[in-house]
Amino acid sequence: MTAQLLTTLSSETNLAKLPNHVAVIMDGNGRWAKQRGLPRIEGHRRGANTLKEMLRYCKDLGIKTLTAYAFSTENWGRPTGEVNFLMGLFERLLQKELKEMEAEEVCINFIGDLSPLPVSLQQEMRHSMERTQDNQGVFFNVAINYGSRHEMIGACQAIAEKVQKGELTASEIDESTISQHLYTSASPDPDLLIRTSGEMRLSNFLLWQLAYTEIYVTDTLWPDFNLEQFDRAIESFQQRDRRFGKVKQ
Ligand code: FPP
Repeated sequence: MTAQLLTTLSSETNLAKLPNHVAVIMDGNGRWAKQRGLPRIEGHRRGANTLKEMLRYCKDLGIKTLTAYAFSTENWGRPTGEVNFLMGLFERLLQKELKEMEAEEVCINFIGDLSPLPVSLQQEMRHSMERTQDNQGVFFNVAINYGSRHEMIGACQAIAEKVQKGELTASEIDESTISQHLYTSASPDPDLLIRTSGEMRLSNFLLWQLAYTEIYVTDTLWPDFNLEQFDRAIESFQQRDRRFGKVKQ
């Protein structure tokens, strides 16, 4: 699979300028299904395959971290049947894919407030995190019941408690203090954010972490987002002039 799809990225220069961390907002599953007269859940099922392909490709290319937005704090407002399907899908996928993730050296980590999720899903999540925690092949963050504002409130509360206990002074709080109190403390900030289905929004995803991330939006709906299109997103990233707010020398 990899060899034939590495066509456009095969030169050494291109492979040398890869993003270290890619984040994805997997949008358009429902529209993909509707266009085909299928139930929305079919879009999610297909979307999960896209994510799996993308994760393997990241590992093969040497992109160290992939972070995917699977379920937001706002997604609870969807019809109950769809929410239940998604929870069941996450659980089934974890059961089915754990062996392969172990073999592929994937280290899976869930980010978000996991406490309102079904207990059996929480157990499956904990189990998969424990079993893959020492893997170094590719770091796979899955955002479930994730909301960036909620994450930042949690960080502020934890930091305020430390100040109250005298473990930290207010003036000692800096960018790294905030970063260390986010769910993503173990990952560097994303270099590239890909959003499918043409929406130009961040949708409460990694607001702090995306401060200097390059954004790539494509009209393609997530289940149709394939590896050639991923190559195009990477190529677009490679042409960007990242100045991080500074002037080019
Ligand atoms: C957004 O499309 C997609 C979701 C809310 C669900 C994404 C979940 C998966 C792809 C499954 C991934 C599985 C794991 C284990 C991480 P949408 O439904 O908002 O599409 P629409 O905008 O066309 O309605």
